[in-house]
Amino acid sequence: MKVLVTGGLGYIGSHTCVQLIAAGYTPVVLDNLHNSKLGVVSHLKKILDQDVQYYVGDIRDRQLLQSIFAEHDIKAVIHFAGLKAVGESVEKPLEYYENNVYGTLALVQEMKAAGIKSIIFSSSATVYGDPEEIPIRETTATGATTNPYGRSKYMVEECLKDLHIADPDWSITLLRYFNPVGSHPSGLLGEDPQGIPNNLMPFIAQVAVGRREQLAVFGNDYPTKDGTGVRDYIHVMDLADGHIAALQHVSDKAGVHIYNLGTGTGTSVLEMVAAFSDACGHPIKYQICERRPGDIAECWADPSKAKADLKWQAQYGIAEMTADTWRWQSNYPNGFSD
Ligand code: NAD
Ligand code: UD1
Repeated sequence: MKVLVTGGLGYIGSHTCVQLIAAGYTPVVLDNLHNSKLGVVSHLKKILDQDVQYYVGDIRDRQLLQSIFAEHDIKAVIHFAGLKAVGESVEKPLEYYENNVYGTLALVQEMKAAGIKSIIFSSSATVYGDPEEIPIRETTATGATTNPYGRSKYMVEECLKDLHIADPDWSITLLRYFNPVGSHPSGLLGEDPQGIPNNLMPFIAQVAVGRREQLAVFGNDYPTKDGTGVRDYIHVMDLADGHIAALQHVSDKAGVHIYNLGTGTGTSVLEMVAAFSDACGHPIKYQICERRPGDIAECWADPSKAKADLKWQAQYGIAEMTADTWRWQSNYPNGFSD
């Protein structure tokens, strides 16, 4: 069964391609290389011992979508493509709405024209804003988002729900990721942020490998176990498997299927620093700094709905997340090549 994977050369998309092939699916990748490098393709080949079919192009290019859908018998689309940097979205809101919202509408309109009515969308825990309850359930209120990136995810969710109301044949799966981290256990694939990393794990990894001097810990006066922010980190291989589970269990069922993909466990910044020090064998230098504006104290998922419906649950803990990230970062300190 062929699956179109938009953004399939990116961080989560590339790991999902590996697991798709392992599960017997054939991914067809569409990526415009905005935030990825062509070098990913040869790393995928080393892991898989086979080529992954890919198109370098944009989800907003309707003609390209039409030709891909004409050429391949695509049964479902996993839609990762989009922009994801919160700070940048505040500076460039129009680019975020154009790519994330309009881009999804163009994709879905072309899917409709081609008679493909199954989409799995990369949503985010960001749609819960500062959550009204913890652990966060799928029924927890959404919409009180705090930045254009978060709003773009919320808007797409609402557009897709309305599409299902208008045409109930659609299978719409909204996967709300918590904090994806980690790398393929081979050390051949991983996260390769361009510029200064915004997120905790890639920043720690770059300190560990000597690319940055020290980590700034954004606040130690939160009402949490040690005063630092607490998040639900999920291994990217578990996240990838969540997409396979969604394909297997709900992608051929009409409806709107919403799942949190998290572990259900919260880890603090200092706990993550300690775990990474264990993984890399030396201390990670850090300094306590001011809080980052817009950050929440803590959040973690209630992942029980995904367990019940998708028969999926996260397998890996912080030890694997840090060890696998370290293997990737120490093998490829400068990430993928062009
Ligand atoms: P990523 O930037 O590594 O991957 C996204 C890929 O999409 C990149 O390869 C990029 O080149 C491509 N792309 C962007 N715009 C495109 C377009 N218009 N046409 C074609 N390709 C395009 O990001 P990721 O971490 O793998 O995230 C994948 C998805 O998951 C995104 O939608 C993101 O918002 C969502 N998400 C990510 C996180 C996270 O922390 N990584 C958390 C929650 C949700
Ligand atoms: C960020 C995004 C969120 C997105 C999520 C997915 C922001 C404000 N939010 O959330 O929209 O869905 O990523 O991955 O960017 N930290 C440090 N020092 C650092 C970096 C982070 O102390 O250099 C702390 C943060 O304060 C937080 C924790 O580490 O407590 C995790 O931060 P991060 O990895 O950026 O993720 P989120 O804040 O959860």
